[in-house]
Amino acid sequence: MTSVAAMTREWDATTYDSLPLPHAQWGRRTLDRLAPRGDERVLDLGCGTGRDSEALLGLLPHGRVVAVDGSLRMLERLRERLAGRLDRVEVVHADITGPLPVTGTVDAVTSVATFHWLPDHAALFRGVARVLRPGGRLVAECGGRGNIAGVSTAVDEVLGPQPAVWNFAGVQETERRLREAGFTDVEVALAPDPARLEPGSQLLSYLAVVVLGGQLERLPAEEHEAFVRAVAGRLPEPVVDYVRLTISATRGPGGTRT
Ligand SMILES: C[S@@+](CC[C@H](N)C(=O)[O-])C[C@H]1O[C@@H](n2cnc3c(N)ncnc32)[C@H](O)[C@@H]1O
Repeated sequence: MTSVAAMTREWDATTYDSLPLPHAQWGRRTLDRLAPRGDERVLDLGCGTGRDSEALLGLLPHGRVVAVDGSLRMLERLRERLAGRLDRVEVVHADITGPLPVTGTVDAVTSVATFHWLPDHAALFRGVARVLRPGGRLVAECGGRGNIAGVSTAVDEVLGPQPAVWNFAGVQETERRLREAGFTDVEVALAPDPARLEPGSQLLSYLAVVVLGGQLERLPAEEHEAFVRAVAGRLPEPVVDYVRLTISATRGPGGTRT
C-alpha cells in the first residue's frame, strides 16, 4: 500500500454516495465543458467514489482514466462501481498536494469538488502543468471565494478560531496562478449554487460526511455528534450556501515555470 501524507483523510464513502449530492450536477457540467474526443487519457483528481470517472469512461470509448484520490474507502467504492471496466482505469491512491502520481503525460485533467481541500493552488497548477501535454486542457470546479460562508460562520461560533480547513480561492488570484503555471485560454468564474437538504438526519449526515470532515478529524469522536448538531442548529435554513469556482485552461506550449 502506498504511504500517503497527512493532507489526506478517510471519507465515509457509503454514506457519501447515499446523499443527495449537488456534486453529481457539478460533475456533469464539468464533463460537458471538457467534452473529450473519445481517445484521450484523462486524469480525475480527487475522483472520490468514481461517479465522474465512470461518466468519463462513457465519453472515452477509446481512452483511459487515471483516477487519483487520497481516501482508500473512496477508491474501494470506485473499484466496485467500475468493476469489469478497470482495464481502462489506472486507480492511484496518493496525496495530490505532492507531485502528481502520473506516469508519462495525460491529455486532459479534470476535478470536481476537490481543489478547495488543497492549501497551495499555485503548486497544484504547476503540478498539473507538469503532467498535462502541451495543448491539453484543465477543466475543474471547486468551492470558491465566499463558499459555505454561513456554515463557516456557524463553525467559528461553535469552535472559536481554528486553523483553516478550506481554501476558497477567488477569480483573479486563480487566473494569475494558472497563467504563472504556464496555462493559456484561462477562464475562471464564480457562481452561487446553494443546496437545500431535508432538515434533520439528512442535513446532519450531509454536514458530517461532506462538509465538516476536516473539523471532525480534529475533535474526539465523542464530540462529533454534538458539534454537527450545533452547526446545523445555527443555520437559518437547511441550506448549504455553496459558491462554485469553475476553471478552464489550456496547457501552453512552453515548459512550466517553477
Ligand atoms: C468532496 S469529495 C469529491 C469527490 C468526487 N470528485 C465527487 O465529486 O464526488 C473530495 C475528494 O477529494 C479527495 N482529496 C481531498 N484532499 C486530497 C488530497 N490531498 N489528496 C488526494 N485526494 C484528496 C478526498 O479524498 C475526496 O474523495
